[in-house]
Amino acid sequence: MPRKEREVTMRRPLMAGNWKMFLDIPGAGKLAEELVSGTKNVTDRDILVCPSFPLLSRVAQAVEGSAVQLGAQNLYYEESGVFTGEVSAAMLRSVPCSYVIVGHSERRHVFGESDELVGKKVASALKQGLRVILCVGELLEEREEGNTKRVVKRQIERGLDGVEEAALEDVVVAYEPVWAIGTGKTATPKDADNVHAYIRTVLSTKFSKTAASEMRILYGGSVKPENVDGLMAKANIDGALVGGASLKSESFLRIIKFET
Ligand code: 13P
Repeated sequence: MPRKEREVTMRRPLMAGNWKMFLDIPGAGKLAEELVSGTKNVTDRDILVCPSFPLLSRVAQAVEGSAVQLGAQNLYYEESGVFTGEVSAAMLRSVPCSYVIVGHSERRHVFGESDELVGKKVASALKQGLRVILCVGELLEEREEGNTKRVVKRQIERGLDGVEEAALEDVVVAYEPVWAIGTGKTATPKDADNVHAYIRTVLSTKFSKTAASEMRILYGGSVKPENVDGLMAKANIDGALVGGASLKSESFLRIIKFET
């Protein structure tokens, strides 16, 4: 595979599937098994799937001992207690999950999660040994008003409020412009790369330059087999968070096996 500028900085690509509220136990098990067998020879990138809570155990069984890692799509920040319908970091660790997505735009905009709540969830997940994918991204009207940078800066700063620099190795940022999610509209590789570069600047102001340069920033929003190579060729795009196209092994395997 041709080398590219990004590899010089040692950021290992992370190709993650967010299965959202799709599939059932048999379907998730089958998809996970197909991904495991299709990625046996893939050694130079990380692979992650994030099914919904009831599917986690079945997928954990399917991916055990393979290169495919397991994550959840959400958690609650309390360790345990009278929180009907919620799931703690410790529960996710016991599956075992290694990652959790926090602050996905659907959590923010459908379920009203605030920056403050997202920050508490990030802190709780890290404290209890989960890796976090912190999602950020602007709405269409925020983009049209020229507020993309302001929105992602606020979401990063509040989402990582109180996080120590040493914990950053367990944090991945995903830039998902809301207008590109599930719409078939992707940010151009150049636009996405520009926002990623800006996110890295925000991180280097809040933390150190070294920490910022080591952090992985994923792109999400209508990533498909047809556009993944162009996105992954960009210096600041370190992986993808894939929704719809991660629900079929054929398309997700092609995305995982991007070539630049
Ligand atoms: P789509 O790939 O379906 O646009 O979803 C992106 C997403 O929200 C991943 O978290």
